[in-house]
Parts: sequence; C-alpha cells; structure tokens
Amino acid sequence: MMGNLEGGRVPAAVKTAPAWRHALYEVASLLTFPQRPDHYVEWLFPLYSTTEVRARVEAVRRETENITTLVLRPNSLWRGHRAGQWVALSVEVNGVWLTRCFSISSAPSRLDGLLEVTIKAVPSGRVTPRLVLGATPGMLVRLSQAQGTFVLSEPTPAKLLFVSAGSGITPIMSMLRSKPACPDIRILHFARSASDVPFAAELQKIGGRPGNQVQLVFGDSALDGSLLADLVPDFASRETYVCGPAGLLAATQSALAAVAASSRFHAESFALEAKESTTTGTVTFQRSNRTVEGAHTILAMAEQAELKPQSGCRAGLCHSCTRRKVSGATRDVRTGEVSAEGGVLLQLCVSQPVGPVVIDL
Ligand SMILES: Cc1cc2nc3c(=O)[nH]c(=O)nc-3n(C[C@H](O)[C@H](O)[C@H](O)COP(=O)(O)OP(=O)(O)OC[C@H]3O[C@@H](n4cnc5c(N)ncnc54)[C@H](O)[C@@H]3O)c2cc1C
Ligand code: FES
Repeated sequence: MMGNLEGGRVPAAVKTAPAWRHALYEVASLLTFPQRPDHYVEWLFPLYSTTEVRARVEAVRRETENITTLVLRPNSLWRGHRAGQWVALSVEVNGVWLTRCFSISSAPSRLDGLLEVTIKAVPSGRVTPRLVLGATPGMLVRLSQAQGTFVLSEPTPAKLLFVSAGSGITPIMSMLRSKPACPDIRILHFARSASDVPFAAELQKIGGRPGNQVQLVFGDSALDGSLLADLVPDFASRETYVCGPAGLLAATQSALAAVAASSRFHAESFALEAKESTTTGTVTFQRSNRTVEGAHTILAMAEQAELKPQSGCRAGLCHSCTRRKVSGATRDVRTGEVSAEGGVLLQLCVSQPVGPVVIDL
C-alpha cells in the first residue's frame, strides 16, 4: 500500500478543513488506533490520497516487441495535461519507489478520464523493463502533475511538421491525437525497422487523410538539411516540432536556421545535453559521512558512494533530485555556469563539483 502520510499525523487537507471535519477525523483516529483512518481508506480505495496523484493501470497494450502503452486511471487530484507534456511516474521496483519521466501519448480531451504513456524498455534500465514487460492491469503507480513546455502553439499553426525518432514519437502522438481534424501535417519518423514503429496503423491512418503525409525512414539514415528538403520540400514554412536524440534535434535546428526559420523550431530531448568540461571536485555527503572525488554529476557521484538519493529524469527537469548545497562551487552541466553560493537548493543530476563541495545528503 502506498503511504503518503506520516504515521499519527493529521493530513494537511484535514487540518485546513472545517473544524467539524477535523473533529470527525480525531474520532475516527480513536476508532482505528493504532492505524490512521487513512490506512483503512487506502486499503479499501487504493487510488485515494489527499496529497498525491495515484493511478491504476487499467490496460496494457503492446505496441512493438519492446514498447508498451500503459492505460492509466488517475485519482481525482489529476489536473489534466496539454498535448506534448510529460509526467514523472513512480513505480515500486523490488520494494523501492523509483521515478522516471514519460510523455503522455494520449489526447488531453478524452472523455473517459484515462491517460496513456508509451514506454520503451531500456535494456539495462532499472524501471522501464519492469513497466514494459511486467506491468499488469491493477498495478498502482504515482504520478506528478503534467509538466513541460513542448506543446503546440495557440492557435494551431496552419502547416505543421513533426520529426521524431524512437520513443520521441510519444508526445507527438498526443499532439496528433489532440488535433484529429488538422490538415496539412507532415510527419517524419526515424526507426530501425518497420517492426520498431509504435502506433504504425494509426500513423498510416493519419497520413491517409487529405493534406497529410507520413514518411517512415528505416535504417541508419541520419537527418540533415538536404534529406529534410528532399522529404519535405516546403519545410521552411512549417511550424516544426522535434523529439528524439540530440543529433536529430541539432540537424533539424540547423536546417531551419539555414532558411531563416529558427523561430519555427520547437524541440524536446529525453536525455541530458551536457556541455563538455574537464572540471573535477570532491563531494562530501554530510549526513552519510561519505566523500567522493570525480568529474561526474553529483547524482552519479552519490550513486558511486552507494547512496540512493531520489532521482527521476536525470536531465534537470523533474526536480526530484533536489538537495541543499551546504557549501562549495558547482557547475551546471547544461549551461557551464558556475555558482559558489552555499545554502541553496541544487539539482544533483545537472550539477558537477568545482573543487570541494558539501551536500546535505
Ligand atoms: C521529459 C522526458 C520524457 C520522456 N518520455 C519518454 C516516453 O514517452 N517514452 C519512453 O520510453 N521514454 C521516455 N523518456 C525516457 C525515459 O525516462 C528513460 O528511458 C527512462 O528514464 C529509463 O529508465 P530506466 O530506469 O529503465 O533506466 P535507468 O536505470 O535510469 O538507466 C538509463 C541508462 O543509464 C544507464 N545507467 C543507469 N545508472 C547508471 C549509472 N549509475 N552509471 C552509468 N550508467 C547508468 C543504464 O545502463 C541505461 O542505459 C523520457 C524522458 C524525459 C526526460
Ligand atoms: S532527476 Fe530530475 S531534476 Fe534531477
């Protein structure tokens, strides 16, 4: 059972409720002692929570050999999403709750209140194999609210181009599903082979609508300006949304820049893009009394010291790895900026030590 409230404490939602509700909770606490009333409510209604979004897996749909869609029913705390956004999803793996980020692949406008995430198994990953190969209906997960700025501009542009590779198709699928009547869409998707393409039948259907075109590129072809111009001759006039590896984003961005259309470029990458550096340092994890020397992110160095700080996206997006920096200089691996300020909150996954650093962990 997922316990989100500390034992014996009155939940915040009850504390701020009218006095009669507080009194009722106190009476219920006497009746259910030594457990909290929430213990029994959660047992009866596993999705119940006053503080966190929980969701039940309603269905599991295999898309390809290593890609699975989970259909989720969130509890009433879920505030919905915009097409293109992602959630931090936590799942219990061997008794430990681990968090990873996944784009929502379903449209926001679903009337059944369900949402979908489509997950590719990373062969040596700790979480995705569990979700892709081991998820079954009834399984419970925790969700953040939807996050991210990779969303369609409003009003919807008249001419759209979507470029994706691998699981980068997932936020784009949500966008496509949210605009079923939108004409004049070009979709370029890169995959190893036909059997690696999720949503293949649906993409074919979207491509068959008047004004639209879907092109699947198989093998090792890398996108560049001339391939883009061959496949989508009028790409310069299209609002362009790209999701995939860094190389795909960079190639599309420079193709648009070359035709003075940089403002039409919108992108999301699932992995951290770090600037190269030769910086090294020593991190002391104060509470755990461990010190590690190295040239990695502080999150990786904590893991090297066999500590298990919370983490999710490992890309500076979800904030689950945030800890207090007591002292020392750190470098943001995304921007290269160095900050020597102590007593501040720090995202461990995107921070590297510059000299000696002390972290409250
Ligand atoms: C905003 C966002 C949206 C995303 N949307 C999707 C989506 O819709 N669908 C999807 O499939 N994926 C998506 N991803 C990617 C997804 O979150 C990752 O595939 C997932 O985090 C991998 O989790 P894992 O636990 O399986 O792998 P992890 O255990 O986190 O490992 C990932 C990789 O890192 C390596 N690794 C792990 N720990 C270490 C270590 N200590 N030292 C060295 N190497 C290590 C592993 O070998 C593996 O190759 C998204 C990511 C982000 C940031
Ligand atoms: S793990 Fe998501 S911000 Fe660090």
